Amino acid sequence: MKLGIIGCGAIGTDVAKAADAMKDIEKIYLFDINKAAAEKLCKSLKKASLKPVEEFLEDVDVVFEAASQQAVAQYAAIVLEAGKDLIIMSIGSLFNDALRKKLENTARKHHRKIYLPSGAVCGIDGVLAASIEKLDSVTLVTTKPPASLGKSVEERTIVFKGTARDAVKQFPRNINVAACLSLAGVGFDETKVEIIADPVETRISHKILAHGRFGRLRAEVENMPNPNNPQSSYMASLSAIATLRRVLDPIQIA
Ligand SMILES: NC(=O)c1ccc[n+]([C@@H]2O[C@H](COP(=O)([O-])OP(=O)(O)OC[C@H]3O[C@@H](n4cnc5c(N)ncnc54)[C@H](O)[C@@H]3O)[C@@H](O)[C@H]2O)c1
Repeated sequence: MKLGIIGCGAIGTDVAKAADAMKDIEKIYLFDINKAAAEKLCKSLKKASLKPVEEFLEDVDVVFEAASQQAVAQYAAIVLEAGKDLIIMSIGSLFNDALRKKLENTARKHHRKIYLPSGAVCGIDGVLAASIEKLDSVTLVTTKPPASLGKSVEERTIVFKGTARDAVKQFPRNINVAACLSLAGVGFDETKVEIIADPVETRISHKILAHGRFGRLRAEVENMPNPNNPQSSYMASLSAIATLRRVLDPIQIA
């Protein structure tokens, strides 16, 4: 399989290195608006070369995006129109209902898939299954060190409580986690989000609480930051690599 990667930052680098070691992947194309980042990564890989997206599209099977919301808006549709599957990390882009519907329709028309890794949260599998039946409530509780929320507080403080859609407007950095949970469960307007600034915290923790006909779910993760980008959790990279494995492997744990 041949892989195209858009975005050679923290996550793109982790995925490219993992893909370089996968025997099922024969070729990797890299693109980044920061040429130096792409070149540096390329030099560290055995199977990689540099090409603009429009040029590598013809020769790849799957495109992995780990760049930005703008990159999703710019490239996602042309990737699908070219008949390639797409893995999106900048899931926050899908808060835009018009863009999401357009990509969904394009993927359907071209018989392609859009994969959304669960990213920095855990428990998405449970929410996905539970949402087949009636879900009464889904809540995300994110706890962060105050500095990473741009806050300076002396004690544990709830800095936001509301819908996922409103959380994104006020705290766009939590957008990917809230978007993934919303899409898996009850949507952006029904998913509740609580964001807590806690001076005792050194890690970013995400807790999902869901209640419905299935029973009750509580899933919590305490994430280490990615060594190359403290804004991203290392779990997000691991989840991306697991999704790539899922695209390749005959046996899938869904
Ligand atoms: N789904 C999740 O749980 C989750 C978790 C963390 C990060 N993310 C998202 O994944 C993306 C990548 O995260 P990261 O930590 O690797 O970021 P990063 O800043 O380390 O790397 C992003 C790279 O993409 C490049 N880039 C930006 N816009 C581009 C464009 N239009 N075309 C090509 N390249 C472009 C940048 O130059 C940079 O090298 C971000 O959008 C981030 O919000 C998602």
